[in-house]
Amino acid sequence: MQLTWLGHSCVLITGSSRVLVDPFIGDGVPVREVPDIVAVTHGHADHVGETLHLAKKTVAINEIAKYLKKQGIPAEGMNIGGTIDVDGVRFTMTPAVHSAWLEPAAPGYCGGAAAGYVITMDGKRIYHAGDTALFSDMKLIGQLYKPDVACLPIGGRFTMGPDEAMMAAQFVGAPLVIPIHYNTWPAIAVDPSSFRRAIERTTDIKVAVLSPGESVEM
Ligand code: NI
Ligand code: MN
Repeated sequence: MQLTWLGHSCVLITGSSRVLVDPFIGDGVPVREVPDIVAVTHGHADHVGETLHLAKKTVAINEIAKYLKKQGIPAEGMNIGGTIDVDGVRFTMTPAVHSAWLEPAAPGYCGGAAAGYVITMDGKRIYHAGDTALFSDMKLIGQLYKPDVACLPIGGRFTMGPDEAMMAAQFVGAPLVIPIHYNTWPAIAVDPSSFRRAIERTTDIKVAVLSPGESVEM
């Protein structure tokens, strides 16, 4: 199984299915990967991204799923704490501490709550935190689901920065961390290599700093 970081929060998981999380990679850049399933963490435009254009089966929180269905997208609605099976891939929706209006619909259109996912495919588990602050229940996500990989935002300003993400990585306890949601714009500019060095110096956790399009094998 392969995990590819396409940029920003956009992660492609390739195994028995192709799951694309948060299909947005930057201003005006199309996401060219065609997945089987799209998973959206929350309503902001830098996460919904090209969900409507891709028009694939999409997993999202109920409020977003209802909107997508109205647009003709086959959406599977769920909510935080729940788990669904979509074509043999399990999605557990986790909390995220963040805001969530559904930006592509209209200003103020309710996008439910912001979330993350634990995605289980082919016996491997990926935690994609979405956009979030640090919260101590990340320990529960680690205890309950024991993810093999954690994709954590490190860009600051709109999410955790590197210092908080260091603690998040320890709370989740996944042996591999992939930093996301940084350097897309100047407002979230961060040096991921100092984040990697700080974690690897003080814990057994490995950090894979990927270039857009680069993959790790799981
Ligand atoms: Ni956001
Ligand atoms: Mn974001």
